[in-house]
Amino acid sequence: MLDEDGYFGESVAASYDESSAEMFDPRVVEPAVDVLAELAGARGRALEFGVGTGRVALPLAARGVEVHGIDLSRAMVERLRAKPGGDGIGVTIGDFATTEVEGTFSVAYLVYNTIMNLTSQDAQVDCFRNAAAHLEPGGCFVIEVAVPDLRRLPPGQDAVPFRVEEGRLGFDLYDVATQSVTSHHVTVKDECGRHLAVPFRYVWPAELDLMARLAGMRLRARWDGWTRKPFTSESRQHVSVWEKCVS
Ligand SMILES: C[S@@+](CC[C@H](N)C(=O)[O-])C[C@H]1O[C@@H](n2cnc3c(N)ncnc32)[C@H](O)[C@@H]1O
Repeated sequence: MLDEDGYFGESVAASYDESSAEMFDPRVVEPAVDVLAELAGARGRALEFGVGTGRVALPLAARGVEVHGIDLSRAMVERLRAKPGGDGIGVTIGDFATTEVEGTFSVAYLVYNTIMNLTSQDAQVDCFRNAAAHLEPGGCFVIEVAVPDLRRLPPGQDAVPFRVEEGRLGFDLYDVATQSVTSHHVTVKDECGRHLAVPFRYVWPAELDLMARLAGMRLRARWDGWTRKPFTSESRQHVSVWEKCVS
């Protein structure tokens, strides 16, 4: 199942837009693009880590921002290329924790929980260093990610269901000791079952702030989502913006 495209190989890529349809809703995408376009500024360039099929990159480019993407998955990037405007996005195939691209950017961003696809703390730290290395002084790194959902995990329990419906079951299996979580997706069609297990590393907001400091960045803003609602102790997600310190 796992090839050089990682967990986003041909079969996932083929159904990605459809299975994430709610994330393609303009009511979800436009507020993100508003924030990113503002941070990119009038003539700034934007770098997307994990550009995928272009859910955010394409509407951001349509606002006049030059966007470059990094992604491991050729299958996902093929879908981006096939869309109107797809050939206007430069893409480098590689790991966004370490891959270098030419030039500097006023904003780098990593959305839709994709920081959690890096399954070790070292890789997440490398990702912050890589973002900072691509930013102009004063440039910003933006992450959209869930707050770890451990409040749903009573002592002695390690599984949390996130989807239980006819033909589709999804549950997260936590290992709190290693800060890892594996999402299990089971689909049943025509009496045939398919199982996909995807490993993640969940990460705390304060831990991300420390990674930013290690990379020479400091927190500029943290919101509960792209509409810039205040981040509170009840927030289930956050959009955080770190800026590269001017040395
Ligand atoms: C959940 S999708 C998000 C795609 C797009 N950003 C969006 O919001 O729809 C995660 C994407 O990140 C890519 N990805 C995951 N880990 C990666 C890594 N270490 N380096 C580069 N790309 C990675 C996957 O191939 C996939 O295209």
